[in-house]
Amino acid sequence: MKREKIIEDFKGKKICVIGDLIYDRFIFGNVSRVSPEAPVPVVEVISERGVPGGAANVVNNIRALKGEPLLIGVTGKDSFGKEFLEIIRKTGISCENIILEKEVKTIVKTRIIAHKQQIVRIDREKTNLLDENIINKLKKKIENVLKDCDAMVVSDYAKGTFSHQFLIWLGEKVKKLNIPYIVDPKPRNFPYPEATIVTPNRGEASGFLHKEITKKNLSSFAREILSKTNWQAVLITLGEDGMALCERKSRETVLIPAKLKEVYDVTGAGDTVVSAMAMALSSGYSFKTAANIANAAASVVVAKLGTSVCTIDELLKSI
Ligand SMILES: Nc1ncnc2c1ncn2[C@@H]1O[C@H](COP(=O)(O)OP(=O)(O)OP(=O)(O)O)[C@@H](O)[C@H]1O
Ligand SMILES: [Mg+2]
Repeated sequence: MKREKIIEDFKGKKICVIGDLIYDRFIFGNVSRVSPEAPVPVVEVISERGVPGGAANVVNNIRALKGEPLLIGVTGKDSFGKEFLEIIRKTGISCENIILEKEVKTIVKTRIIAHKQQIVRIDREKTNLLDENIINKLKKKIENVLKDCDAMVVSDYAKGTFSHQFLIWLGEKVKKLNIPYIVDPKPRNFPYPEATIVTPNRGEASGFLHKEITKKNLSSFAREILSKTNWQAVLITLGEDGMALCERKSRETVLIPAKLKEVYDVTGAGDTVVSAMAMALSSGYSFKTAANIANAAASVVVAKLGTSVCTIDELLKSI
């Protein structure tokens, strides 16, 4: 495929992203002594950084590919939530469709890093399902934006945004619009009705069927997933082994090997995969072409430390 064509096709694609919002924080420091209070290192803070995580990272990935993402989600009306919103705003993402709620606790993951090593991660999260009145506010937001979108992405981190009922409602909405609907799933919300394609990793795919996925059973595994859902295709990401695509039409499983790269940081590769899939499918590309593009984009991201987006230029070089 011509590079110019991909640039042209991707440009301005409107992608609705709905999902769990996660505030990723990093505290960098030096350690030069052990605490007198307990046998633990004392970290002297040099710098702090916050970045949009979860569904907000998917949005960042879509922007890097020159799409126009619309982020819909809920976060806490607390001090972390306000800080998080400010960071989202500063990265240039609209916060118009983010709902701030008093009863919701902002999900924060803070890593403390000294001499390039993570010393500890501190998580603040309550993963209760959202109240019905909050879900109703989300539904209103979705109804307002979805009709103008070229695709929809669900970024499920199992942090409370999605329930089976809500996903049934979403499926019905997208079905009527006939746009690609891409899901980055978690096992507890299987089977994501009406999804066009779902992108589980190994563990998530195993969780769907409550049995281990192996090299040997890969094809029958993918077919069994499709037999229990109404998806058009499933894309199982296999980390260093690449990805496996199985389409309902052919029932065949195609293996797409990972691009050999020096790997630095695999976190966020899954977000890059859904984002690239959404861009490519809304451009009218086949599942196979889209998966190859997503695989190339993911290989860019795993070779980067920290940042987890692949720009359109990096993607075109990697294909
Ligand atoms: N070690 C690696 N070498 C090359 N490519 C890789 C490697 N790990 C991951 N990838 C690429 O990233 C894609 C997604 O990786 P993986 O299956 O680990 O997703 P994930 O577990 O959802 O990631 P995340 O941590 O973002 O949730 C793979 O299909 C592959 O294209
Ligand atoms: Mg993932």
